[in-house]
Amino acid sequence: MKPAVRIVDLHKSFGANEVLKGVSMEVEPGKTVAVMGGSGSGKSVLIKHVVQLLLPDSGEVWYGDKRMDLLRGKELDDQRLTIGYLFQGGALFDSMSVAENFDFVLDRHTSLTLAERKDRIEELLTWVELEEKFNASPADLSGGQRKRIALARGIALDPKLMLFDEPTTGLDPVSVRLVSDLIVRLRDELDMTSIVITHDLLCAEIAADHVNFLFEGLILESGTLDEVQRSDKPELRNFFGG
Ligand SMILES: Nc1ncnc2c1ncn2[C@@H]1O[C@H](COP(=O)(O)OP(=O)(O)OP(=O)(O)O)[C@@H](O)[C@H]1O
Ligand SMILES: [Mg+2]
Repeated sequence: MKPAVRIVDLHKSFGANEVLKGVSMEVEPGKTVAVMGGSGSGKSVLIKHVVQLLLPDSGEVWYGDKRMDLLRGKELDDQRLTIGYLFQGGALFDSMSVAENFDFVLDRHTSLTLAERKDRIEELLTWVELEEKFNASPADLSGGQRKRIALARGIALDPKLMLFDEPTTGLDPVSVRLVSDLIVRLRDELDMTSIVITHDLLCAEIAADHVNFLFEGLILESGTLDEVQRSDKPELRNFFGG
């Protein structure tokens, strides 16, 4: 099967800071791939290339049969609209209600009427089991609820691909499970392809079909979580705590 995402020999430096030194990875359609690795190892930089928030110094970023790193203008915008992105830190607008946070996206990018948008928002909130938060202010939500709502907003436009940057960081184990289970449901119920950046073993264990471990700008190990955890490379033993 043709990969949904294929990154080939990606290099990216910021001045003298060589962050990615030839990263290659593939994501099969309908699978969830985790990218793990220490803080500052380049995980966020890596997935920003998938939607051209960053341009590579060299290498290729394929999304289906499109070269994301070469697209410009409307063609790029059209592809981006098929990709949901949950940014590190969550990013709901606190000045708007939960529903307005969704409407902001739906109003701009769909031709749905007001009533249809309301139905869609209710459907999305029901999907993450937070339908009662329609009128709530994001500031009044728990960390886990914010993540679930940000996730629901991420899928508002029916993306084919979801990018999650640390979706469970800072959450208690119960919320980690809730959010990770949602990522699994995206795969199993909506046939979504996902890339999940995470430090979180529980999240990787629940959600990831495959794990890529990034270290000093290269994928040092790649396999199931079990295989990566059993690696005898010292950098991985160190990361997974012995
Ligand atoms: N826009 C930028 N300009 C300059 N340097 C950057 C930029 N974005 C990232 N970097 C640098 O690239 C390196 C990797 O950053 P990145 O955010 O990808 O790390 P990370 O693996 O996501 O870490 P964390 O787990 O802490 O989120 C860091 O040294 C960072 O300072
Ligand atoms: Mg990061």
